[in-house]
Amino acid sequence: MISKTIFTNIKELIGVQQEFKNIKSIQLLKKLNVIKNAFLVIENDKILDFGKMDELDLVDQKFDEIIDLNNKSVLPAWNDSHTHLVFAGSREQEFVDRINGLSYEQIAKNGGGILNSAEKLANTPIDQLYESSAYRLEKVMKMGTGAIEIKSGYGLSLKNEIKILRAIALLKENYNLPIKATFLGAHAVPNEYKNNKSKYIDLIIKEMIPNISAENLADYIDVFCEKNYFTVQDMQRIIEAGMKYNLKAKVHVNQFNSIGGIQKAVEMKAVSVDHLEVLSQNDINSLKGSSTIPTLLPSCSLFINIPYANGKKLIENDIPFALASDYNPGSTPSGNMNLVVALACINMKINPEAAINAATIMGAHAMELENITGSITKGKLANIIVTENISSYNFIPYSFGENNIDRVMVRGKWV
Ligand code: NIG
Ligand code: FE
Repeated sequence: MISKTIFTNIKELIGVQQEFKNIKSIQLLKKLNVIKNAFLVIENDKILDFGKMDELDLVDQKFDEIIDLNNKSVLPAWNDSHTHLVFAGSREQEFVDRINGLSYEQIAKNGGGILNSAEKLANTPIDQLYESSAYRLEKVMKMGTGAIEIKSGYGLSLKNEIKILRAIALLKENYNLPIKATFLGAHAVPNEYKNNKSKYIDLIIKEMIPNISAENLADYIDVFCEKNYFTVQDMQRIIEAGMKYNLKAKVHVNQFNSIGGIQKAVEMKAVSVDHLEVLSQNDINSLKGSSTIPTLLPSCSLFINIPYANGKKLIENDIPFALASDYNPGSTPSGNMNLVVALACINMKINPEAAINAATIMGAHAMELENITGSITKGKLANIIVTENISSYNFIPYSFGENNIDRVMVRGKWV
């Protein structure tokens, strides 16, 4: 059965793209198309039509529902292309330790950090893990997230990595938003392999990847390429192994140090390189013209007090990028994409146009979902945010820490 809904009197219809665009051009980031005083038609789960109110011809048209938005605005739902949303417990003690002077890296060295979460996860049964993750997913959907990527990486053993990935698979089954799963076995070296990292990498390559692929549990492969974690060489080995099983790479690089991870990831045609709080001229040169999408995570910078990635410099170099939340229990216990957009404007000094595009169409690109979501385009999914009655889209990042959301629709259904 076909169901048709029309929204009328939209103050600003934000993020319009008349046709599907596959290019990774800087205009995708810089230019935000807006139709003022607009209408939008949804048919079932997709966008059917849109335009200016004064060009709307209602003759011969039948709708199941006519919703007068009365000067509210509409934009594409956020596409959060980097999260670790499936985790067990929380780590607020580390938060307090940081307030009292320890750094994120010191806490990890003392056995906290990722290993702390891995221990909690090992002791949590899958149904409990699923429940807490589903709760967080619903929460971010209400804050406007309409597609999301979720990583494993708190398992660090075959059994527990699979536990996380199965929880993600269950989320895929039970929620209607597009979800991409990423295998991040190389998130940290577990204690029992502390003096034998290469043995752990063997386990990832010989046991984890084949088993995970056999169950079809992952779309991408990730590595935390960083001093004291995994080297560029380690990353290369792991990505190569993943690619044999059709897992493309989305990697953590340049969070604390620039060690050549970007160059290698670009060379290996990674879908995205994420973090980039530290960025050298060499890194920028490798990103230029490549198909790999830099993904910046400003709420991580806020929370653990590290520099913000230089989004402004990327724009000056014509390199489009995505913004994502990095939602995880250690460095970013928040999945609020509205805040991410505001922080990017405030601290990276990028315009609201670029920030909104980075969190919508570029986020879609970073999950290879650009053909189905990320913009107001005929034929794309009806994944939209209806705002409250705000004066303009600039108000979204301006009113930082708030959401201004009236309602969220995912695949044509209200969240
Ligand atoms: O993206 N940097 C590595 N991984 C996560 C944080 C992991 C954690 O602290 O639990 C991140 O920031
Ligand atoms: Fe992360």
